[in-house]
Amino acid sequence: MNFEDQIRDFSKQVKFSADFGKLAPFNNIIISGMGGSGISGNIFSEIYDKAPVQVVSDYNLPSYADENTLFIGISYSGNTEETISAAREAIKKNCQIRLITSGGILSELGQETVIVPKGFQPRAALGYLLKPFLNTFISSDESIYADISRLLLEMESDNSKEKEIAKLIFQKNSIPYVLGFPPFRWVAYRWKTQFNENSKILAFSSYFPELDHNDAIPMKLTYGKDNFSFLVFGGSTGQIEKRVRYTSEVTSTDFITVEPKGKTLLEKLFYLIHAGDYISYHLAKLREIDAEDVSVITELKDRLKS
Ligand code: PA5
Repeated sequence: MNFEDQIRDFSKQVKFSADFGKLAPFNNIIISGMGGSGISGNIFSEIYDKAPVQVVSDYNLPSYADENTLFIGISYSGNTEETISAAREAIKKNCQIRLITSGGILSELGQETVIVPKGFQPRAALGYLLKPFLNTFISSDESIYADISRLLLEMESDNSKEKEIAKLIFQKNSIPYVLGFPPFRWVAYRWKTQFNENSKILAFSSYFPELDHNDAIPMKLTYGKDNFSFLVFGGSTGQIEKRVRYTSEVTSTDFITVEPKGKTLLEKLFYLIHAGDYISYHLAKLREIDAEDVSVITELKDRLKS
């Protein structure tokens, strides 16, 4: 499947119905995953508040991990060394374990595992990696995901708005700086990583209200500001909406606003994720760069193995 078709699969992925099955009671959740896999845990951690969730993008688990911990390891390939190491430690510590992978070593650890379809770049399989969390902990109501799927399909058949935003970034020869706000802080970070991996460009992300306590200072200075395109998610309300407006005014910074479509939090979440997929993909095309290529990541992984 070519990369554009992988991106276009998202409207199908959102209907993926796998979940983590019956779970024993737990006190906390530790999620382990790197890059395009780990981001699903981060996004989930921002919309779930019934138990403490810590995402560990590292080899080791925090010392509190024990038999009352639900450990969820995510690696699309199943061969990422940090995630394998964390999963092995979770087994030793008698955590309750669930894994998500398309195969590899992770699928051979003898643990309860959600197997996702092969043939994708990890970052283009986000729907498959995120859905077991949503089906288990948020809602398994298929009609919710059918509505989201329809919304995503609209973007997949017409992503001219996303192309326009990519053009603005490209024509200015600028670095994307993505400004999110709760519950889309990790969506902003996902955009940053999509710009990195798809468009092969350095990018930054930050979020309101925190950024008003730091990023806003250099935003006001003119030095170097033209090197950036500031992208902000629309749809904020209350104090956050004021902060977006006032930050733009006080720092004299123009924001490119990306309005999420949809009524519910999940609809907006998926819509914004997909908008970032397309903007970064179109930017890659404008830059005449292969959006799919991640040979640098592969080379690093290979060198670490030897
Ligand atoms: O997007 C990518 O290709 C990377 O960020 C990978 O997701 C990351 O290297 C981890 O690999 P995996 O998702 O197979 O565990």
